Amino acid sequence: MSSPNNPSSSAFSGLIAPDMAAVDRLISDRLSSSVPLVGQVAQHIITSGGKRLRPVLLLLMSGALGYKGDDHFKLAAVVEFIHTATLLHDDVVDDSGMRRGKATANAMFGNPASVLVGDFLYSRAFQMMVECGEMRILDIVADATNVIAEGEVMQLMNMHDASLDQQGYLKVIRSKTAKLFEASTRLPAVLAKSSPQTEAACAAYGQSLGTAFQVIDDVLDYDGDASTLGKNLGDDLREGKSTLPLIFAMQRGTPSQCLLIKNAIEQGDIDALADIADIVRSTGAMQATRQAASDEAQLALHALEVLPASDYKTALADIAEQLLDRQN
Ligand code: IPE
Ligand code: IPE
Ligand code: MG
Ligand code: MG
Repeated sequence: MSSPNNPSSSAFSGLIAPDMAAVDRLISDRLSSSVPLVGQVAQHIITSGGKRLRPVLLLLMSGALGYKGDDHFKLAAVVEFIHTATLLHDDVVDDSGMRRGKATANAMFGNPASVLVGDFLYSRAFQMMVECGEMRILDIVADATNVIAEGEVMQLMNMHDASLDQQGYLKVIRSKTAKLFEASTRLPAVLAKSSPQTEAACAAYGQSLGTAFQVIDDVLDYDGDASTLGKNLGDDLREGKSTLPLIFAMQRGTPSQCLLIKNAIEQGDIDALADIADIVRSTGAMQATRQAASDEAQLALHALEVLPASDYKTALADIAEQLLDRQN
């Protein structure tokens, strides 16, 4: 990615630019509904941009596997619809006010409209994947959607729990975030009728990449810039969500530093956000968290090794490497 902000406008964009344009057309065509509020809310979030990373991965993996059909366009739109549905619901659950540099749909249209249009997008995605007529595709997407929901519920149960450890944290993010990345990179292997070994490697790439992606997302909540990120900083702490930067800071900090973090998680209090961000940096927790993301990105790169050399494979490797430096 020459610009980590937008993978589809990056150095490899020539590879998939026409494909991404086709996916964007499909996304906009399939948002249609006879109910005006559905269109308004869906348009608001979809046209706010977003990196379209999951469709990019799906298209690049399809290229890397030499897939020649056109079902990958539809599936790229499907994964973006599912992603967008999770964001509509997530911003309600997290009571977030900013997304993609704009007011969230819940801030603009209210929680009920966000939840219901999220349901519209989920079900539209399911209508579209049924059109592919392949049971394995239904199986993978249905499974991913179910696991994402479990991840979000697990996270809800972990709220205000300062004793959450790295393993518990990883279990949540592998479900809520990495599972859809995994589906996005596994689906092309089904389309291309790849061997089970290749399919497993494609899925492993997505799972590790998605995990690294969420770890960096959690870093940026303490170490990012809201205007570049397009989201408010400190949202995690405000809702009492413990993430890897805090877990590592509590392992490394002095007793008083640990107590400050523990209290902030338990109360969901962001008054100490600046002090906590300093502790995360000064204890080396930020560096350790970035290292954990880097280790996952290495696993993603390793998984790619079974694929034949191609520009698509190089682009997938670039995404794994450059993800660590992303600012949004
Ligand atoms: C946001 O995902 C939710 C997470 C999994 C952290 P993205 O950062 O891919 O969101 P958009 O689509 O680019 O806005
Ligand atoms: C993103 O989770 C939503 C899902 C992966 C379902 P977060 O709540 O951590 O991400 P942001 O910060 O709102 O994008
Ligand atoms: Mg959120
Ligand atoms: Mg959330």
